[in-house]
Amino acid sequence: MFKSVYGPADVPGDVAERLGEPGEYPYTRGVYPTMYTQRPWTMRQYAGFGTAAESNARYHQLLEAGTTGLSVAFDLPTQMGYDSDNPVAAGEVGKVGVAIDSIEDMRRLFHEIPLDKVSTSMTINAPGSVLLLLYQLVAQEQGVPGDQLSGTIQNDVLKEYIARGTYIFPPKPSLRLVADTFAYCREEIPRWNTISISGYHMAEAGATPVQEVAFTLANGIEYVRAALAAGLAVDDFAPRLSFFFVARTTLLEEVAKFRAARRIWARIMRDEFGAQNPKSWMLRFHTQTAGVQLTAQQPEVNLIRVAVQGLGAVLGGTQSLHTNSYDEAIALPTEKAARLALRTQQVLAYETDLTATVDPFAGSYVVEAMTDEIAAEIDGLIGRVFEHGSAVDAIEAGFQKREIETSAYRIAQEIDSGERVVVGVNRFLIEQEEPYQPLRVDPAIEAEQAARLAQLRESRDADAVARSLDALREAAAGTANVLYPMREALRLRATVGETCDALREVWGRYQPTERF
Ligand code: 3HC
Repeated sequence: MFKSVYGPADVPGDVAERLGEPGEYPYTRGVYPTMYTQRPWTMRQYAGFGTAAESNARYHQLLEAGTTGLSVAFDLPTQMGYDSDNPVAAGEVGKVGVAIDSIEDMRRLFHEIPLDKVSTSMTINAPGSVLLLLYQLVAQEQGVPGDQLSGTIQNDVLKEYIARGTYIFPPKPSLRLVADTFAYCREEIPRWNTISISGYHMAEAGATPVQEVAFTLANGIEYVRAALAAGLAVDDFAPRLSFFFVARTTLLEEVAKFRAARRIWARIMRDEFGAQNPKSWMLRFHTQTAGVQLTAQQPEVNLIRVAVQGLGAVLGGTQSLHTNSYDEAIALPTEKAARLALRTQQVLAYETDLTATVDPFAGSYVVEAMTDEIAAEIDGLIGRVFEHGSAVDAIEAGFQKREIETSAYRIAQEIDSGERVVVGVNRFLIEQEEPYQPLRVDPAIEAEQAARLAQLRESRDADAVARSLDALREAAAGTANVLYPMREALRLRATVGETCDALREVWGRYQPTERF
């Protein structure tokens, strides 16, 4: 990929013309004219485990330590739309994130956190609308109206079919639910970022920078088309689309990747979809440092990797950043490790001179040449996705998955051969590793959540809940926006599982078409 020396010949033509100004089309140099010179990126640490009360305590710790945005990790049963007392949830309750079964859990999760003062990201996809409505209902109870809420739901099911797996419904109803969510938020929660179109998980599965961005933007095009087909006007929802990418240790390539992604999305939105509002052209994104590059061996070395990866995200113009904890290759991060991860961002923001000027790599022979090169490759790969018809057609043909698996295999071979150095793993090993004490989630949480659910079902108006779930099924079978009856069911204390079951009954469950 790299030449050993770059010079003027590698950046032909009028670079200034191709670059544009920061905060102006095509946003290669960043989405805002002033970027971090007014305020740093949002330090948004992904966190959540165990019960809502335990996660609430971690959020208070993070807010006290200086985090400037919340980011909720949900356990798998919640992400798959099952209650904690569903047999399928056994062993997973509270494990990789917080267990949220109802409005009561959501109330506990944000206990004494003023929802008009924070922006909250929720990594939730197939049931994204359900958790968003629970958040809105709890905010209402705090006296905070929808138009004062800011945050994001990931809500990106297409990449779940490709690389992460927390899908529920087939593509068609999933895209309908995304379009309903866009329409609902425009009316009810206008500052909410309705989707975080993600490349991170595909990168973690082995995607190259070009594959990561190309498949993510192709999914983005699919969502825009679905919303237009549902009758929405592009400038009514596009300003609230957002993205999520990885930051790998290969810093120069990653900076070029981010700059290329902004340039391409701006062109797609303005020239292909005819968006008029500049906010529709802006690719605003969150970055997480590459979890897959963390090592269990010599775990403190991860502190250095995360610092380099975080540096790449900042030089690449991210709006929001999560820096991984050094112990995450081993277990859930301890409080100390989570604090060190945040301190890494604070050093980047307050001790370096990175926030003093916008897009410092502008005009660099190597970064501009790589930005152009990566952009051309991304455009080519987006074209190959749509040769299948739609991005969904390509997914059902296994195209993206196969491309990523091929890349993952090549990376594994390079590590095995030592061609790709992983310090502490295939070079610079040490004999005796010091013992590490991981953080453990108390298995009693399952019984605790089940008891809470039994109490909730006992104390609610069962008939009213049943009627509200019937209304939800009726809307799902028709064309009315499902979020309104869904909100009423959740307000009456229907559970996450019951709400998703009602939709499963009408829409069915996605069966992957493993055609290789
Ligand atoms: N000039 C002008 N305005 C500025 C500015 C500047 N320099 N900097 C910020 N602002 C304004 C913005 O316009 C915005 O105003 P708005 O509220 O009216 O939109 C406000 O200040 C906040 O700024 P940003 O929107 O840039 O920053 P946020 O942090 O609020 O939003 C985002 C960033 C990317 C748009 C948003 O979608 C976001 O926060 N995403 C986070 C997603 C996330 O955390 N995902 C976690 C995934 S973990 C996962 O998937 C699981 C695991 O397996 C990895």
